Amino acid sequence: MNRVFLYGVISLLLVLSACSHKQHDSFEDVVDEALNFACEQSLLMAGSLKDSHQKLPQTSDRFGQLITCYPAWWVSGFFPGQLWYLYEYSNREELKEMAQLYSERVRDQQFTTDNHDVGFMIFCSYGNAYRITKDTSYLSVINNAAKSLATRYRPSTATIRSWDAAPWNKQWQYPVIIDNMMNLELLMWNARQQNDITLMDIAIHHANATMKNHYRSDYSCYHVVSYDTISGQPHLFQTSQGYSHESAWARGQAWGLYGFVTMYRFTKDARYLEQAEKIASYLLTHPHMPEDKIPYWDFDAPNIPDCYRDASAAAIMCSALIELSTYADARKSQAYLEVAKQQIVQLSSREYRNALGNNANFILKHSVGHMPNNWEIDVPLSYADYYYIEALMRYKNLINE
Ligand code: GLY
Repeated sequence: MNRVFLYGVISLLLVLSACSHKQHDSFEDVVDEALNFACEQSLLMAGSLKDSHQKLPQTSDRFGQLITCYPAWWVSGFFPGQLWYLYEYSNREELKEMAQLYSERVRDQQFTTDNHDVGFMIFCSYGNAYRITKDTSYLSVINNAAKSLATRYRPSTATIRSWDAAPWNKQWQYPVIIDNMMNLELLMWNARQQNDITLMDIAIHHANATMKNHYRSDYSCYHVVSYDTISGQPHLFQTSQGYSHESAWARGQAWGLYGFVTMYRFTKDARYLEQAEKIASYLLTHPHMPEDKIPYWDFDAPNIPDCYRDASAAAIMCSALIELSTYADARKSQAYLEVAKQQIVQLSSREYRNALGNNANFILKHSVGHMPNNWEIDVPLSYADYYYIEALMRYKNLINE
């Protein structure tokens, strides 16, 4: 009788342990399934443009047909970067070959000095290429890109200028957009790699000016701050891609969060961590943050909840929150990871993910590029895919550690 009881208890424990493993495994399974799917979908995308000289994926039209861009467009580095991440994940030679092929297409952008996007273009592509392969031939590309970006810094404003002339808004004397926080990683990485204090100073000055001038008291941010070129002081606080000057454009909030997390990684300056946590708190407690944690395209869009979501904002935010969780105290860390996991589950669901071979072989759907201009509304975007894959890889690295 005792033996029967003992067998019963042991069986129950085995079942419970299997169940708890199953539960534990299930989120990891979501991540692995998502990365495996991303490998297949990205190989289809890569194959479809293999022989199209100088073209890179941008988005799709409303019929699901691929829209490409040339290397000088700001999104060009995301697809090569995505392929590098997937090569890192899978170790598949064909992904490496495609990552090399598409990285070559953006190589010349290292010399871009007429806008700030050189950081996006070169650090997402060549930054990952070097990190993963340690092939030193990539280093000069990354070093040159940092030098190009640094040419856009003016001590009088203590910021890097985002755009030169903006024909659509002639009032802006010296526009700096929140997106520019993303390009500081290129400077900080090079500063460390080359022991170049000037690059570090530029990044720190830019981050400090952004913290002071872009952010409102509730830790939402303006999209565009224009500086007066004579006084060096901000003279206009506006938007270009958001709903209104005073609204909180979702992707802009995500760029800012990600940027300050990155600055904390390099500097360990507590002010950047605090800033990132305040931005995260603004986002996580916002009454317009949907249950599934995929933001509307603007937190102040007038027709919420009947308006478009922006999967790209969710993917950027998700990747940033995973990194932030590694710096925060245990309570906050858990809260950040919970949201990031929810975002991964949602983005990996049929609601947000395309089927294999569909929608021009992009991974995610439902992003918004530029609502006020009526461009890229409710479509896939190459940067949504890039930051989603980065988030998946960051999560994997986190649990492996
Ligand atoms: N300008 C970059 C973006 O659309 O977020």
